[in-house]
Amino acid sequence: MTIRALHVASELYPLLKTGGLADVAGALPSALIERGADVRVLLPGFPAVLAGLRDLQPVAQLGSRFGAPDVTLERGTLPTNGLAVYVIRAASLYDRPGNPYLNDEHVPYGDNAQRFALLGWIAAQLAQQLDPTWSPQIVHAHDWHAGLAPAYLKAAEREHGRAPARSVFTIHNLAYQGIFPAHQFSLLGLPHDFFNMHGVEFYGQLSFLKAGLYYTDRITTVSPTYAREIQTLAHGGGLDALLRHRAHDLSGILNGVDYTVWNPAADQLLATHYSASRLAGKLACKEALQKRFGLAQKSDALLFGVVSRLTEQKGLDLLLGAVPEIVKRGGQLVVFGTGDPALENGLKMVAQAHPESVAVELGFDETLAHTIIAGSDVVAVPSRFEPCGLTQLYALAYGSLPLVHCVGGLADTVADASLENLADDFATGFVFDRFDPKGLAGAIRRAFALYARRTEWKATQRRAMRQDFGWGASAERYLALYRELL
Ligand code: ADP
Ligand code: GLC
Repeated sequence: MTIRALHVASELYPLLKTGGLADVAGALPSALIERGADVRVLLPGFPAVLAGLRDLQPVAQLGSRFGAPDVTLERGTLPTNGLAVYVIRAASLYDRPGNPYLNDEHVPYGDNAQRFALLGWIAAQLAQQLDPTWSPQIVHAHDWHAGLAPAYLKAAEREHGRAPARSVFTIHNLAYQGIFPAHQFSLLGLPHDFFNMHGVEFYGQLSFLKAGLYYTDRITTVSPTYAREIQTLAHGGGLDALLRHRAHDLSGILNGVDYTVWNPAADQLLATHYSASRLAGKLACKEALQKRFGLAQKSDALLFGVVSRLTEQKGLDLLLGAVPEIVKRGGQLVVFGTGDPALENGLKMVAQAHPESVAVELGFDETLAHTIIAGSDVVAVPSRFEPCGLTQLYALAYGSLPLVHCVGGLADTVADASLENLADDFATGFVFDRFDPKGLAGAIRRAFALYARRTEWKATQRRAMRQDFGWGASAERYLALYRELL
């Protein structure tokens, strides 16, 4: 039996991306299709999404919904791989350039509840024959933006006496919960009693994330370790009790890497290519990176790279404190990212203090991201918490040894270059346990120590590059989950 599944998300690479969610939404559907599933995607009609789709055709006219006049659903295809994508055209809600969630002042849009309620509502409508030619058996909703999809499905089930589709909700990041004032509940058109502690209510407010977690049939998150962490008071974001209650329906399925996009032997965004057996090109990538960022052209300076959203989560404040140590040992650091203005300023100041050794650039750019991942010796991901993390997986593929905090998906994917791991041919990077200056400094010292032993460094690089984090195994696990539900 072919399983029909609808993935519901707010971003998708290569159309629109602010973080790893887009990479997952861009790669997982194809991996499922390769394994025999019939998968389509539903996205809000942000300008970049509408502009990037091909062959858009009207599917349904929905009139006035969630404060938007003339809402229409269209269907198109993704030019890169032919993926079928439903897109919601609602200009007054979505036709805003830039970040899909925040305005120019980095403040969430005041009508985000309506903007993303519409997304969840249409998903549930698609499960009820909104498109007469196709309807999903599984609605797979990602993060709070799609959190109301399971709630609208549950409401339809109550009305009609049977569930229009089964649902899966994937947590990509528990730190973003989609919380709105209680009075906005009346805008959603959900049954009154859904505003309840056993429902969408969260400490007197309305939570889209909780709606997803409460009403969905199965919950997944993006790594096994994070699946355990979020059931604890310390890392559960106030939802740990609900997650423990649903522990039997909760599983951790690791994200994968799309090796058609992230492969140093064929990367279209790199000038020089390399592979585990031909590493010479990596040095050219490092030289290009030093040049691009105006660092001293020293081929033997240990070069640390960071490509990251600049938020509290990513732990770059801790890394800032370690800069003097990196510089003292003759290392270099490149940071590229965008986000929290205070962190952006702190990073800029450190770069000004060490112009030969530290470079910081603010922005979001796919080519630069690849340039840094390829040209760095070490890619640092010192996150306080990390549901999965993709940059450390990209770093492994590029032989740029990841330096990570032992949490979430970072703990599940990187093996520390301890003596015993090196001896057992196991090491792939540098892992620190305690999120404090001493913990981080220890990992940095291990990186310098290994770099001084070039043969072992190269062997570790090759081992990192041989790791297989492709989507295959994870896609199989999602399929198994769908089958169980049907
Ligand atoms: P998160 O989703 O929490 O941001 P991930 O590691 O899962 O973390 O995914 C981050 C994704 O966003 C990666 O594809 C990374 O390359 C990309 N990325 C982060 N910052 C930038 C940036 N400034 N420019 C380009 N890509 C970026
Ligand atoms: C989130 C998480 C990140 C994860 C990504 C994709 O943004 O912060 O750890 O890799 O989603 O699942």
